[in-house]
Amino acid sequence: MMDDLDRIMAVMQAAFDPAYGEAWTRRQVEDTLAMPGSHYLLADENGLPPAPGAAAAGFAMSRGAVDEEELLLIAVHPQYRGRGIGTAILERFVKEAASRGATRLFLEMRETNPAEVLYLQAGFEKVGRRRNYYRQGYDGPIDAITFAKRVKDGNSAEN
Ligand SMILES: CC(C)(COP(=O)(O)OP(=O)(O)OC[C@H]1O[C@@H](n2cnc3c(N)ncnc32)[C@H](O)[C@@H]1OP(=O)(O)O)[C@@H](O)C(=O)NCCC(=O)NCCS
Repeated sequence: MMDDLDRIMAVMQAAFDPAYGEAWTRRQVEDTLAMPGSHYLLADENGLPPAPGAAAAGFAMSRGAVDEEELLLIAVHPQYRGRGIGTAILERFVKEAASRGATRLFLEMRETNPAEVLYLQAGFEKVGRRRNYYRQGYDGPIDAITFAKRVKDGNSAEN
């Protein structure tokens, strides 16, 4: 039976373009998930949590501190793209982070990443730019764009 780390790595290895060196190693994922405040979620082909032992079509990983949470990675297996699974994962991330008490969410992406559409549709806004942050691409250094979104604290009394 596949454990969750296996399920994340199966998507990771298929999803990221090696040209940018963005895929994390198994060790990096394992170490991050062992840190306090780290979270992940898995999605099947309907965007829902997969049955125990079934392969995942996508995943997300995040790290929270106090009232902020950062989306570290989001990926959908190339075979399953363009069907709304990425959107469903992002929506689940927003909800779950809010229920953990986050009021502000962040993520960072390479400037040319088509995932930008996904983030804008989910209500994230561009709030910053780090010049030449990604240096591994074949086509020269690329800026990192920071996106943020305010959410209601799912634990607060007014909700
Ligand atoms: C980004 C990613 C997770 C999107 O997954 P997905 O399941 O295909 O996303 P959706 O089907 O929900 O797409 C949502 C919107 O994003 C846009 N979009 C997403 N990926 C796109 C791509 N590769 N090219 C063009 N548009 C894309 C589409 O416009 C789509 O909107 P539409 O359905 O109204 O046309 C997936 O392409 C992926 O795993 N990419 C590689 C990993 C990566 O770069 N992750 C982000 C940085 S960590």
